Amino acid sequence: SEEERTQRIAAARETLGDDVLVLGHNYQRREIVEHADHIGDSYQLSEHAAASDAEHVVFCGVTFMAESADLLTDAEQTVYLPSMEASCPMAGMAEALQVDAAWERITDATEGDVIPVTYMNSYADLKAFCAEHGGLVCTSSNADDAFEWALNRGETVVFLPDKHLGRNTANAMGLGGASVEFDPWAEESSGDVGDADVVLWDGYCQVHERFTADHVADARDAHPDATVVVHPECRPEVVAAADETGSTATITETVEDAADDETVVVGTEIHLVEHLDRWHETDVVALCGDACMDCNAMRQVDPNYLTWILEELAAGREHNVVSVDPDVAASAETALDRMLDL
Ligand code: 13P
Ligand code: SF4
Repeated sequence: SEEERTQRIAAARETLGDDVLVLGHNYQRREIVEHADHIGDSYQLSEHAAASDAEHVVFCGVTFMAESADLLTDAEQTVYLPSMEASCPMAGMAEALQVDAAWERITDATEGDVIPVTYMNSYADLKAFCAEHGGLVCTSSNADDAFEWALNRGETVVFLPDKHLGRNTANAMGLGGASVEFDPWAEESSGDVGDADVVLWDGYCQVHERFTADHVADARDAHPDATVVVHPECRPEVVAAADETGSTATITETVEDAADDETVVVGTEIHLVEHLDRWHETDVVALCGDACMDCNAMRQVDPNYLTWILEELAAGREHNVVSVDPDVAASAETALDRMLDL
Protein backbone atom coordinates (compact mmCIF):
# COMPACT_ATOMS: atom_id res chain seq x y z
CA SER A 1 0.00 0.00 0.00
CA GLU A 2 1.04 3.62 -0.35
CA GLU A 3 1.13 3.98 3.44
CA GLU A 4 3.51 1.04 3.82
CA ARG A 5 5.71 2.37 1.01
CA THR A 6 5.85 5.81 2.66
CA GLN A 7 6.99 4.21 5.94
CA ARG A 8 9.68 2.17 4.19
CA ILE A 9 10.98 5.25 2.33
CA ALA A 10 11.03 7.23 5.61
CA ALA A 11 12.97 4.42 7.35
CA ALA A 12 15.56 4.22 4.55
CA ARG A 13 15.93 8.00 4.52
CA GLU A 14 16.45 8.05 8.28
CA THR A 15 19.32 5.58 7.93
CA LEU A 16 20.88 7.60 5.10
CA GLY A 17 20.35 11.04 6.71
CA ASP A 18 22.09 13.89 4.85
CA ASP A 19 23.97 11.38 2.67
CA VAL A 20 21.03 11.21 0.24
CA LEU A 21 19.26 13.85 -1.84
CA VAL A 22 16.05 12.94 -3.71
CA LEU A 23 15.19 15.10 -6.72
CA GLY A 24 11.81 15.02 -8.49
CA HIS A 25 11.20 16.48 -11.92
CA ASN A 26 7.99 18.49 -12.39
CA TYR A 27 6.60 15.70 -14.62
CA GLN A 28 6.91 12.94 -11.99
CA ARG A 29 3.75 11.58 -10.42
CA ARG A 30 2.47 12.72 -6.98
CA GLU A 31 3.66 9.52 -5.24
CA ILE A 32 7.21 10.43 -6.30
CA VAL A 33 7.36 14.22 -5.82
CA GLU A 34 5.95 13.89 -2.30
CA HIS A 35 9.23 12.19 -1.33
CA ALA A 36 11.52 14.67 -3.12
CA ASP A 37 13.75 17.20 -1.34
CA HIS A 38 13.41 19.44 -4.41
CA ILE A 39 10.88 19.56 -7.24
CA GLY A 40 11.72 21.57 -10.36
CA ASP A 41 12.79 21.71 -13.98
CA SER A 42 15.72 19.72 -15.27
CA TYR A 43 18.24 22.52 -14.90
CA GLN A 44 17.09 23.67 -11.45
CA LEU A 45 17.38 20.09 -10.16
CA SER A 46 20.96 19.75 -11.44
CA GLU A 47 21.79 23.01 -9.65
CA HIS A 48 20.33 21.60 -6.41
CA ALA A 49 22.46 18.48 -6.85
CA ALA A 50 25.59 20.60 -7.40
CA ALA A 51 24.83 22.83 -4.39
CA SER A 52 24.34 19.84 -2.07
CA ASP A 53 27.04 17.82 -0.30
CA ALA A 54 24.96 14.62 -0.43
CA GLU A 55 27.00 11.62 -1.47
CA HIS A 56 23.99 9.91 -3.14
CA VAL A 57 21.75 11.86 -5.53
CA VAL A 58 18.61 9.92 -6.52
CA PHE A 59 17.25 11.64 -9.63
CA CYS A 60 13.56 10.92 -10.31
CA GLY A 61 13.54 11.97 -13.94
CA VAL A 62 14.97 10.74 -17.26
CA THR A 63 18.49 9.71 -18.30
CA PHE A 64 19.67 12.97 -19.88
CA MET A 65 18.75 14.83 -16.67
CA ALA A 66 20.70 12.39 -14.50
CA GLU A 67 23.68 12.73 -16.87
CA SER A 68 23.55 16.53 -16.52
CA ALA A 69 23.43 16.16 -12.73
CA ASP A 70 26.48 13.88 -12.92
CA LEU A 71 28.34 16.49 -15.00
CA LEU A 72 27.50 19.29 -12.57
CA THR A 73 28.23 17.43 -9.29
CA ASP A 74 31.59 16.64 -7.62
CA ALA A 75 33.53 13.44 -8.22
CA GLU A 76 32.60 12.27 -4.67
CA GLN A 77 28.87 12.40 -5.50
CA THR A 78 27.03 9.58 -7.31
CA VAL A 79 23.82 9.98 -9.30
CA TYR A 80 21.22 7.19 -9.54
CA LEU A 81 18.06 6.73 -11.61
CA PRO A 82 15.30 4.66 -9.98
CA SER A 83 14.62 3.15 -13.44
CA MET A 84 17.20 2.81 -16.21
CA GLU A 85 14.27 2.52 -18.66
CA ALA A 86 13.42 6.20 -18.19
CA SER A 87 14.86 7.53 -21.45
CA CYS A 88 13.42 10.58 -23.20
CA PRO A 89 12.45 9.58 -26.77
CA MET A 90 13.32 13.06 -28.06
CA ALA A 91 16.90 12.81 -26.76
CA GLY A 92 17.08 9.47 -28.63
CA MET A 93 16.09 11.18 -31.91
CA ALA A 94 19.51 12.85 -32.17
CA GLU A 95 22.14 10.34 -31.16
CA ALA A 96 25.70 11.64 -31.46
CA LEU A 97 26.69 8.89 -33.92
CA GLN A 98 23.79 9.77 -36.21
CA VAL A 99 24.49 13.51 -36.02
CA ASP A 100 28.17 12.87 -36.73
CA ALA A 101 27.20 10.84 -39.81
CA ALA A 102 24.91 13.61 -41.10
CA TRP A 103 27.26 16.48 -40.28
CA GLU A 104 29.16 16.40 -43.56
CA ARG A 105 25.91 16.59 -45.54
CA ILE A 106 24.99 19.77 -43.67
CA THR A 107 28.41 21.41 -43.81
CA ASP A 108 28.85 20.52 -47.51
CA ALA A 109 25.55 22.26 -48.31
CA THR A 110 26.47 25.47 -46.47
CA GLU A 111 29.16 28.04 -47.27
CA GLY A 112 30.26 29.57 -43.96
CA ASP A 113 30.89 28.11 -40.52
CA VAL A 114 28.14 25.91 -39.07
CA ILE A 115 27.62 25.97 -35.28
CA PRO A 116 25.64 23.20 -33.52
CA VAL A 117 23.41 24.10 -30.57
CA THR A 118 21.78 21.33 -28.59
CA TYR A 119 18.85 21.52 -26.22
CA MET A 120 19.49 20.30 -22.67
CA ASN A 121 17.20 17.37 -23.60
CA SER A 122 20.01 15.41 -25.27
CA TYR A 123 22.61 12.85 -24.25
CA ALA A 124 26.03 13.87 -22.94
CA ASP A 125 27.84 12.61 -26.05
CA LEU A 126 25.78 14.98 -28.24
CA LYS A 127 26.58 17.85 -25.86
CA ALA A 128 30.27 16.88 -26.28
CA PHE A 129 29.89 16.77 -30.09
CA CYS A 130 28.50 20.32 -30.02
CA ALA A 131 31.39 21.64 -27.93
CA GLU A 132 33.91 19.92 -30.21
CA HIS A 133 32.30 21.62 -33.25
CA GLY A 134 32.34 25.08 -31.67
CA GLY A 135 28.81 24.99 -30.24
CA LEU A 136 26.99 24.86 -26.92
CA VAL A 137 23.96 23.69 -24.93
CA CYS A 138 20.82 25.69 -24.17
CA THR A 139 17.58 25.32 -22.21
CA SER A 140 14.15 26.45 -23.37
CA SER A 141 14.73 29.66 -21.36
CA ASN A 142 17.94 30.75 -23.08
CA ALA A 143 17.64 29.28 -26.61
CA ASP A 144 17.46 32.79 -28.13
CA ASP A 145 20.72 33.85 -26.44
CA ALA A 146 22.35 30.61 -27.61
CA PHE A 147 21.21 31.24 -31.23
CA GLU A 148 22.62 34.76 -31.06
CA TRP A 149 25.91 33.43 -29.62
CA ALA A 150 26.15 30.90 -32.45
CA LEU A 151 25.22 33.37 -35.21
CA ASN A 152 27.98 35.70 -33.97
CA ARG A 153 30.44 32.87 -34.63
CA GLY A 154 29.09 31.28 -37.80
CA GLU A 155 26.68 31.73 -40.70
CA THR A 156 24.37 28.84 -39.79
CA VAL A 157 23.01 27.36 -36.54
CA VAL A 158 22.08 23.69 -36.48
CA PHE A 159 19.61 23.16 -33.63
CA LEU A 160 19.05 19.68 -32.15
CA PRO A 161 17.01 17.67 -31.33
CA ASP A 162 13.71 19.63 -31.01
CA LYS A 163 12.50 21.22 -34.26
CA HIS A 164 9.57 22.90 -32.54
CA LEU A 165 11.64 24.67 -29.87
CA GLY A 166 14.07 25.60 -32.67
CA ARG A 167 11.32 26.97 -34.93
CA ASN A 168 9.63 28.82 -32.04
CA THR A 169 12.96 30.42 -31.09
CA ALA A 170 13.73 31.37 -34.71
CA ASN A 171 10.21 32.86 -35.11
CA ALA A 172 10.60 34.96 -31.94
CA MET A 173 13.94 36.27 -33.27
CA GLY A 174 12.53 37.12 -36.71
CA LEU A 175 14.50 34.28 -38.32
CA GLY A 176 11.49 32.05 -39.05
CA GLY A 177 11.69 32.55 -42.80
CA ALA A 178 15.34 31.54 -42.82
CA SER A 179 14.89 28.20 -41.03
CA VAL A 180 14.58 24.78 -42.67
CA GLU A 181 13.99 21.29 -41.31
CA PHE A 182 16.64 18.65 -41.85
CA ASP A 183 15.56 15.02 -41.80
CA PRO A 184 18.69 12.86 -41.57
CA TRP A 185 16.84 9.94 -43.19
CA ALA A 186 15.40 11.84 -46.18
CA GLU A 187 17.16 12.69 -49.45
CA GLU A 188 15.67 16.19 -49.47
CA SER A 189 15.17 18.73 -46.68
CA SER A 190 12.13 21.02 -46.28
CA GLY A 191 14.09 23.84 -47.94
CA ASP A 192 17.55 24.82 -49.07
CA VAL A 193 19.95 24.09 -46.20
CA GLY A 194 22.56 26.24 -47.97
CA ASP A 195 20.41 29.40 -47.65
CA ALA A 196 19.24 28.82 -44.09
CA ASP A 197 20.30 30.73 -40.99
CA VAL A 198 18.82 28.00 -38.83
CA VAL A 199 18.75 24.27 -39.67
CA LEU A 200 16.30 22.32 -37.50
CA TRP A 201 17.04 18.66 -36.76
CA ASP A 202 13.84 16.65 -37.21
CA GLY A 203 13.22 15.67 -33.58
CA TYR A 204 10.22 16.40 -31.39
CA CYS A 205 8.63 15.60 -28.04
CA GLN A 206 5.93 12.97 -28.44
CA VAL A 207 3.91 14.55 -25.62
CA HIS A 208 3.99 18.23 -26.62
CA GLU A 209 3.60 17.53 -30.34
CA ARG A 210 0.10 16.18 -29.67
CA PHE A 211 -1.31 19.61 -28.71
CA THR A 212 -3.04 21.45 -31.57
CA ALA A 213 -4.29 25.00 -32.20
CA ASP A 214 -7.86 23.55 -32.05
CA HIS A 215 -7.18 22.51 -28.45
CA VAL A 216 -6.34 26.15 -27.65
CA ALA A 217 -9.51 27.37 -29.43
CA ASP A 218 -11.63 24.83 -27.49
CA ALA A 219 -10.01 25.89 -24.20
CA ARG A 220 -10.79 29.56 -24.94
CA ASP A 221 -14.46 28.67 -25.64
CA ALA A 222 -14.66 26.77 -22.35
CA HIS A 223 -12.65 29.35 -20.30
CA PRO A 224 -12.95 32.74 -22.06
CA ASP A 225 -11.03 34.70 -19.36
CA ALA A 226 -8.24 32.18 -18.80
CA THR A 227 -4.56 32.68 -19.49
CA VAL A 228 -3.23 29.95 -21.79
CA VAL A 229 0.42 28.99 -21.21
CA VAL A 230 2.24 26.27 -23.18
CA HIS A 231 5.70 24.70 -23.25
CA PRO A 232 7.89 25.77 -26.24
CA GLU A 233 8.18 22.12 -27.33
CA CYS A 234 4.62 22.57 -28.68
CA ARG A 235 4.07 23.15 -32.41
CA PRO A 236 4.53 26.80 -33.57
CA GLU A 237 0.80 27.21 -34.29
CA VAL A 238 0.01 26.20 -30.68
CA VAL A 239 2.60 28.66 -29.33
CA ALA A 240 1.14 31.40 -31.60
CA ALA A 241 -2.38 30.72 -30.27
CA ALA A 242 -1.29 30.76 -26.58
CA ASP A 243 -0.84 33.84 -24.36
CA GLU A 244 2.48 32.75 -22.87
CA THR A 245 5.20 30.21 -23.57
CA GLY A 246 7.88 28.89 -21.27
CA SER A 247 9.76 26.06 -19.56
CA THR A 248 8.17 24.09 -16.74
CA ALA A 249 9.68 26.65 -14.32
CA THR A 250 8.04 29.53 -16.24
CA ILE A 251 4.69 27.69 -16.34
CA THR A 252 4.95 27.24 -12.55
CA GLU A 253 5.64 31.00 -12.13
CA THR A 254 2.63 31.89 -14.30
CA VAL A 255 0.36 29.90 -11.99
CA GLU A 256 2.05 31.33 -8.86
CA ASP A 257 1.48 34.87 -10.17
CA ALA A 258 -2.21 34.28 -11.05
CA ALA A 259 -4.99 35.40 -8.65
CA ASP A 260 -6.92 32.74 -6.69
CA ASP A 261 -10.09 33.32 -8.74
CA GLU A 262 -8.29 33.10 -12.12
CA THR A 263 -8.10 30.12 -14.46
CA VAL A 264 -4.82 29.11 -16.13
CA VAL A 265 -4.94 26.61 -18.99
CA VAL A 266 -1.63 24.73 -19.21
CA GLY A 267 -0.29 22.87 -22.25
CA THR A 268 2.36 20.50 -20.94
CA GLU A 269 2.81 17.03 -19.44
CA ILE A 270 -0.25 16.20 -17.33
CA HIS A 271 1.47 15.56 -13.99
CA LEU A 272 2.75 19.13 -13.69
CA VAL A 273 -0.75 20.42 -14.45
CA GLU A 274 -2.18 18.20 -11.69
CA HIS A 275 0.49 19.28 -9.17
CA LEU A 276 -0.11 22.98 -9.88
CA ASP A 277 -3.86 22.55 -9.47
CA ARG A 278 -3.32 20.67 -6.19
CA TRP A 279 -0.79 23.17 -4.81
CA HIS A 280 -2.61 26.44 -5.65
CA GLU A 281 -6.03 28.02 -5.18
CA THR A 282 -5.96 29.15 -8.84
CA ASP A 283 -7.96 26.87 -11.13
CA VAL A 284 -5.35 25.07 -13.25
CA VAL A 285 -6.82 23.25 -16.24
CA ALA A 286 -5.13 20.89 -18.70
CA LEU A 287 -5.13 21.97 -22.33
CA CYS A 288 -6.93 19.11 -24.06
CA GLY A 289 -8.12 17.62 -20.77
CA ASP A 290 -9.67 14.54 -22.35
CA ALA A 291 -6.44 13.21 -23.89
CA CYS A 292 -3.78 11.42 -21.90
CA MET A 293 -0.85 13.82 -22.17
CA ASP A 294 1.59 11.90 -20.05
CA CYS A 295 5.23 11.11 -20.72
CA ASN A 296 5.87 7.38 -20.82
CA ALA A 297 9.59 7.94 -20.11
CA MET A 298 8.85 9.84 -16.88
CA ARG A 299 6.29 7.19 -16.00
CA GLN A 300 8.98 4.51 -15.88
CA VAL A 301 9.97 5.87 -12.46
CA ASP A 302 7.64 3.80 -10.31
CA PRO A 303 7.32 4.61 -6.58
CA ASN A 304 8.28 1.00 -5.81
CA TYR A 305 11.61 1.53 -7.63
CA LEU A 306 12.26 4.64 -5.53
CA THR A 307 11.62 2.56 -2.39
CA TRP A 308 13.93 -0.16 -3.66
CA ILE A 309 16.83 2.14 -4.56
CA LEU A 310 16.66 3.96 -1.21
CA GLU A 311 16.46 0.72 0.81
CA GLU A 312 19.39 -0.72 -1.14
CA LEU A 313 21.46 2.44 -0.56
CA ALA A 314 20.60 2.27 3.15
CA ALA A 315 21.93 -1.33 3.10
CA GLY A 316 25.15 -0.16 1.40
CA ARG A 317 24.32 -1.45 -2.08
CA GLU A 318 24.38 0.79 -5.17
CA HIS A 319 22.32 0.23 -8.34
CA ASN A 320 21.47 2.20 -11.49
CA VAL A 321 24.46 4.54 -11.33
CA VAL A 322 24.50 7.18 -14.10
CA SER A 323 28.06 8.15 -14.86
CA VAL A 324 29.20 10.01 -17.97
CA ASP A 325 32.31 8.58 -19.60
CA PRO A 326 35.29 10.82 -18.61
CA ASP A 327 36.30 11.25 -22.31
CA VAL A 328 32.85 12.62 -23.07
CA ALA A 329 32.44 14.52 -19.80
CA ALA A 330 35.18 17.13 -20.43
CA SER A 331 33.68 18.31 -23.74
CA ALA A 332 30.09 18.05 -22.48
CA GLU A 333 31.07 20.27 -19.53
CA THR A 334 32.56 22.80 -21.98
CA ALA A 335 29.20 22.92 -23.82
CA LEU A 336 27.41 23.52 -20.49
CA ASP A 337 29.98 26.14 -19.36
CA ARG A 338 29.47 28.08 -22.61
CA MET A 339 25.76 28.17 -21.80
CA LEU A 340 26.43 29.37 -18.25
CA ASP A 341 28.62 32.18 -19.65
CA LEU A 342 25.88 33.44 -22.01
P1 13P B 1 12.20 21.37 -18.42
O1 13P B 1 13.56 21.64 -18.95
O2 13P B 1 11.33 22.58 -18.45
O3 13P B 1 12.28 20.72 -17.09
O4 13P B 1 11.49 20.35 -19.41
C1 13P B 1 12.02 19.10 -19.57
C2 13P B 1 11.21 18.33 -20.48
O5 13P B 1 11.36 17.14 -20.57
C3 13P B 1 10.24 19.03 -21.31
O6 13P B 1 9.49 18.13 -22.02
FE1 SF4 C 1 11.21 13.84 -23.33
FE2 SF4 C 1 8.89 14.98 -23.95
FE3 SF4 C 1 9.04 13.28 -21.92
FE4 SF4 C 1 10.16 15.70 -21.76
S1 SF4 C 1 7.98 15.23 -21.92
S2 SF4 C 1 11.08 13.77 -21.09
S3 SF4 C 1 10.91 15.97 -23.87
S4 SF4 C 1 9.40 12.81 -24.10
